[in-house]
Amino acid sequence: MGELIDWTTAFDIFDKDYIENPFEIWDTLRNECPIAHTDKWGGSWLPTKYDTVTKMAREPELFSSREILVVPPAEAPGSGAYGETKAAPISVDAPMHTWTRRQLLPAFSPRAVDELEVFTRAWCRELMDGIAARPTADAAVDYAQQIPAQVIATMLGVPTSMKDTFTKWVRWSLEAGLTNPELRIKARAELQDFFMGEIIKRRESGTKTDLIGELVHADHDGEPFPDGLILGMCGLLLIAGVDTTWSGIGSSLWHLATNKEDRERLVQEPELIPSAVEEFLRAYSPVTMARLVNNDMEYEGCPMHAGDRVLMAFPAANRDPEHFENPDQVIIDREHNRHVAFGAGIHRCVGSNLARMEMRVAIEEFLARVPDFELIEDAEVTWAGGQVRGPRTIPVRINKSIGH
Ligand code: HEM
Repeated sequence: MGELIDWTTAFDIFDKDYIENPFEIWDTLRNECPIAHTDKWGGSWLPTKYDTVTKMAREPELFSSREILVVPPAEAPGSGAYGETKAAPISVDAPMHTWTRRQLLPAFSPRAVDELEVFTRAWCRELMDGIAARPTADAAVDYAQQIPAQVIATMLGVPTSMKDTFTKWVRWSLEAGLTNPELRIKARAELQDFFMGEIIKRRESGTKTDLIGELVHADHDGEPFPDGLILGMCGLLLIAGVDTTWSGIGSSLWHLATNKEDRERLVQEPELIPSAVEEFLRAYSPVTMARLVNNDMEYEGCPMHAGDRVLMAFPAANRDPEHFENPDQVIIDREHNRHVAFGAGIHRCVGSNLARMEMRVAIEEFLARVPDFELIEDAEVTWAGGQVRGPRTIPVRINKSIGH
């Protein structure tokens, strides 16, 4: 246990207890203080009810996306080597949000994602060749973490050998880096140098066949996208696409390693995997992004001030008993599941089709090769938390594998 915290007035999303088991905390807050406030980390509000979170997400004129991180960057905007970079569309408001989002949508359409499935499955199978042959494995490090970086590298058109470097940048930006701004600045500098090199290559070669090439040759009102915008968008795709999806795959495998019945049922009835994916997304939602209050106002009885942060607690909304029957129970064939793990409103996740495909294929391929596995007794499972929650180590014993 960490120190004793009054969660209604001093919640701390980086506290060990919040990272490990936020569910009871959200229940308490929903009952006692449905929009809680803390002074920790510069101060923020935390709505925990489904109706409030989804309403706020649909009021971008009240709640801006100019700042989506709880701990703001230490450096002034524009202080990087390439001037002002914008992680659009996630950290901009309309009108810029509209045209930057529109530019990305085709690459993430269901059809585009279908085309990536064959490659994703082949890569999962290759990973499982290594895992199935062993008595134990780390389902997070050896598997979940390996998948999304490889997929996004392919989409961006950069060498897949970069995936470990990508993973490092992501961890520096979103895990350790969330509370350590120096690490975040270092990650940003390395990432921007790399992507600037890739942008220059595509400008010289005229390549349009990958996501970076599409951004380099895109225009808005007849003007090409500035370098800072392209860099910000590439960085966003990497960071938004990797940490989140690896958390989603990891939480699913952790659940299956600790819930024999669900695992056995999915092995027997793999056609249930898509609905299990939705349930894992609901119950273990990884992502909480922030907003900035635009003007002083009273909101549902709370005195909010311009510049206050609000945490869009989509994961807490997904456990609200007013919207989900037995919300703390994981029901892999749940019938009504209108979860908001991918957000709501204009910023709803651009990569949701891709994330769903990666989670489904990762689970299908894991269970096909290793139908029986369990958490190693007494081994430690570590969870990353804060704004993206997921297991970072899942030591498992492999009880049965197929093809070895
Ligand atoms: C399980 C995996 C994922 C989850 C749970 C997730 C969740 C979210 C959430 C909650 C938002 C809304 C943020 C807000 O309201 O401020 C969001 C936005 C976004 N996500 Fe995802 N995401 C996942 C995977 C991905 C992937 C694979 C990509 C792309 C490679 C991606 C790209 C984006 C982008 C570009 C936005 C910004 C959309 C906008 O502002 O219009 N995400 N995501």
